[in-house]
Amino acid sequence: MRNPRVVGAPTPTSAAVAETVAQVVPTTGTPVVVELGPGTGSLSDGIHRRLPEGARHIGIELSPELVDHLREHKPWLEVVHGDAADLLALLDKAGVTEVDAVISSIPWSLLAPNAQDHILRQATEALTPHGAFTALTYLGADRTQGGRRFRARLHDTFDEVLTHTTWLNFPPILHYICRRPLR
Ligand SMILES: C[S@@+](CC[C@H](N)C(=O)[O-])C[C@H]1O[C@@H](n2cnc3c(N)ncnc32)[C@H](O)[C@@H]1O
Repeated sequence: MRNPRVVGAPTPTSAAVAETVAQVVPTTGTPVVVELGPGTGSLSDGIHRRLPEGARHIGIELSPELVDHLREHKPWLEVVHGDAADLLALLDKAGVTEVDAVISSIPWSLLAPNAQDHILRQATEALTPHGAFTALTYLGADRTQGGRRFRARLHDTFDEVLTHTTWLNFPPILHYICRRPLR
């Protein structure tokens, strides 16, 4: 409530949203999954449950209060206090060269165009060729100017952009599930 343009959400997302999000998480090998804006961790449990032994699950969170909350309540999550805008530098510091899935719930439609592009470019650079990028937005926010621009950028950036709506959330959530970055 204190910082609506950064948090961009009145309540944490529901279990139904988390279940859909978790589907892009690889269940074999030793994948690296990065969550941008894990917040209170409402998506993190579902992601964590699917990850195999030896995987890495890194959450990059801007708010210091939420970083403390995550460190206390989700000790298995590698919490990085930082800005998604510094994604590649933060991954480098964490010793990560390639990422299998980027799961983002930062308020994309509220970001300035250059901030959208900057973060998206880094996410695609970090992804393996078969990696997945997902973004959540409120249904309706996708029709705002920032939301429409973000959707267009996703189509410019990825060969495949699928959408899915989770109605069991207030407000309903639109998922973008994107693969094969067009480099
Ligand atoms: C809409 S909330 C989503 C929280 C949680 N993942 C969920 O689905 O309930 C957005 C989160 O992104 C964080 N955030 C916003 N901008 C960010 C940025 N540039 N880098 C990292 N985290 C950011 C906010 O602090 C907040 O925790």
